[in-house]
Amino acid sequence: MIIYRAKDYQDMSRKAANIISAQVIMKPNCTLGLATGSTPVGTYQQLIEWYKKGDLDFSQVSSINLDEYKGLSPENDQSYRYFMNTNLFNHINIDKTRTFVPNGLEADSQKACNDYNHIITASGGIDLQLLGLGHNGHIGFNEPGEAFERETHCVDLTESTIEANKRFFESEEDVPRQAYTMGIKNIMQARKILVVVSGADKAEILEKVLKGPITPAVPASILQLHNDVTIVADEAALGRI
Ligand code: GLP
Repeated sequence: MIIYRAKDYQDMSRKAANIISAQVIMKPNCTLGLATGSTPVGTYQQLIEWYKKGDLDFSQVSSINLDEYKGLSPENDQSYRYFMNTNLFNHINIDKTRTFVPNGLEADSQKACNDYNHIITASGGIDLQLLGLGHNGHIGFNEPGEAFERETHCVDLTESTIEANKRFFESEEDVPRQAYTMGIKNIMQARKILVVVSGADKAEILEKVLKGPITPAVPASILQLHNDVTIVADEAALGRI
């Protein structure tokens, strides 16, 4: 595991974007596993800037996102499809037909998850998976207690996640209670994993993830067992390391 200590959020974003750029340059037709949340936004902005300067070409890249709220349409401004379009895809030359997000409108959870597992397999596997980190150690929407061997599945969001995400919705009642998420097994099958972490409020969980026991109680702790993980975190997040 490599840990890069960034000065601040901007530095973290630039370092993470450099790693993603390297992947796209080394393998122009790579499959990127992408993430939502506030942490990767700066990384996406940096990638857009470099694309606009002519330094990056996404025309052959495919992408597979971690998760989506069940019940939200792609047009809903809180859906993760909408997030990806507005924060990245609309601003680069990626072919949108090769960008995948679980189908939040598929009411049949089994079908939505099977379809998504099929998409991941058919892509030939994820070359580089970008991850943020939830305050309770969740990755994607794999909440504490989730079995490590699961693939894409439907989850009931925990109170702490609903609480953390309600800032994006008009009221807490509007936060969907369920989501489709890649499982830990899908994530661990990625060839490389890049985790971005920012802020003092993540310091305690980051310490548990990196130094604590590997346990489903801290889903991201499983990353200790992956053979190619890079953590890019700012000083505030690394305050206890
Ligand atoms: C959400 C997402 C995760 C993300 C996490 C942290 O619940 N499903 O993929 O990593 O929140 O978000 P943030 O980066 O805003 O702290």
